[in-house]
Amino acid sequence: MPIERVRIFATTLRDGEQSPGASMDESAKVRLAIQLDRLGVDVIEAGFPIASNQEFEGVKRVAEAVKNAQVAALARALDKDIDRAADALKNAARPMLHTFLATSDIHMEYKLRMTRGQVLDAVGRAVTRAKGLIPFVEFSAEDATRSDWDFLVAVTKIAVDAGADVINLPDTVGYTTPDEIREMFRYVIAGVPGSEKVIFSSHNHNDLGLAVANALAAAEGGARQIECTINGIGERAGNTSLEEVVMAMRTRQDKYPIDCGVISEELVPSSMLLSKITGLAVPFNKPIVGRNAFAHESGIHQHGMIANAQTYEIMTPETVGRKRSDLILGKHSGKAGLAKRCAELGYELTEEETKQLYDQFIVLADRKKEVFDDDLHMLILGVQQETFDVYHLDQVRCAGSDPAMALVKLNRGGQVFTDTSVGDGPVDAACMAVDRIVGVSGRLEQFDVRAATPGKDALGEANVLVRFADRVYRGSGASTDIIEAAIKAYVSAVNKYVAYQESQNIVAARRNGATPEEYQTGARL
Ligand code: KIV
Ligand code: ZN
Repeated sequence: MPIERVRIFATTLRDGEQSPGASMDESAKVRLAIQLDRLGVDVIEAGFPIASNQEFEGVKRVAEAVKNAQVAALARALDKDIDRAADALKNAARPMLHTFLATSDIHMEYKLRMTRGQVLDAVGRAVTRAKGLIPFVEFSAEDATRSDWDFLVAVTKIAVDAGADVINLPDTVGYTTPDEIREMFRYVIAGVPGSEKVIFSSHNHNDLGLAVANALAAAEGGARQIECTINGIGERAGNTSLEEVVMAMRTRQDKYPIDCGVISEELVPSSMLLSKITGLAVPFNKPIVGRNAFAHESGIHQHGMIANAQTYEIMTPETVGRKRSDLILGKHSGKAGLAKRCAELGYELTEEETKQLYDQFIVLADRKKEVFDDDLHMLILGVQQETFDVYHLDQVRCAGSDPAMALVKLNRGGQVFTDTSVGDGPVDAACMAVDRIVGVSGRLEQFDVRAATPGKDALGEANVLVRFADRVYRGSGASTDIIEAAIKAYVSAVNKYVAYQESQNIVAARRNGATPEEYQTGARL
């Protein structure tokens, strides 16, 4: 059977970001977009530019940073949305405009208050306008799986005639089943003249836990693009999980004669980066990327594995970017050994990053008996994050509990600032000391800590959401000391806020005609 190519459309930064608690600022989107590009996806949907200025800026920055994949921006079928999306994409190497309108009776009657005729007109107008601004356009018939199939055919004909390159038939509410969606694609593709010239796409939500199965069935029905997210994050129960759908087609090519350009060894690193950036933990039993996805606990399984790994393994951990032996170097390992392990894990570190990593590794190896790959991933992500840091936490000391007292030392460009504060507990006191040093006032809105690896001496990973005025920033930090992990996380959120404020000041200074030197010296602010 000939293997056909399916495009992978990663909507992690758009639909994925609609997951409760998964919002990402512009820099986080750029970091993830670069990783998605390295992963080899075909399309990166970067956001919904009309939603806010921050969202517009995020799409623009992703469009400027991504070199290989197409970058898509979402727009309702409205002129103002389409123009804003096209504007955000103007510096993209390979832009793609994604416009959508609902086609199910329930959406048209109660949400849009539009008749079928009005929807058909709006689709034609939206695709024509989008195509006039951006050469590659996708149209999505929102709630397609609950729409009348003949009406879907009519909508698709209009969109194709207006120049759409991709037609997406989403299961917006996660309602369909594999048999039904396979037939729906066959029906629409057969009913639309010229359908062989466009790409049909499937976008599924996971409300019944069927998103991956539905995506594969849609491909059997003729879809040649699958929309999905890393770790399956997304609205409500999430979207089709990218790593699951990719490994299902790779592992069962006898059933699904399709393939894509994803570099599977980048799946675990992508999953970890997303989890680190959003603070959304990956369940240990999550297929493909969960910590236990390749762990064999029972004696019978271990015995079988030793005799022949294929007795209990349908794919190897190496193919998805996880090393079989998880135990890594001890405190006597040298810098070269550490660098070698990082390279094996797929990281390219600069000399400066390797030096910082080694210093942190020695501290960790002193505190912990065993250092696992997951510890190393945490440290590396932390070091790479610090490259962008404004303030770095040098020390935090706490005493007492009610009230607690904290002493904090922060380092900015080699200059050390120290302050103390009292608070309701050690975390509260230390956050207040950070605020006093930086001259900000943050409110901790969410605070979670979990163990990154097994064992009593595990690295604690803290994730926080901090509000400064009208914006909320996410921060994360890791340490074997959970107070230190929490304050690192708080400082990383403060850094994002400070970086944002300072970038705004530079823009304001430029508007006032200040030269960079005048801005630096504060002469024209
Ligand atoms: O679920 C959905 O229908 C969507 C569309 C905007 C494609 O996310
Ligand atoms: Zn969706």
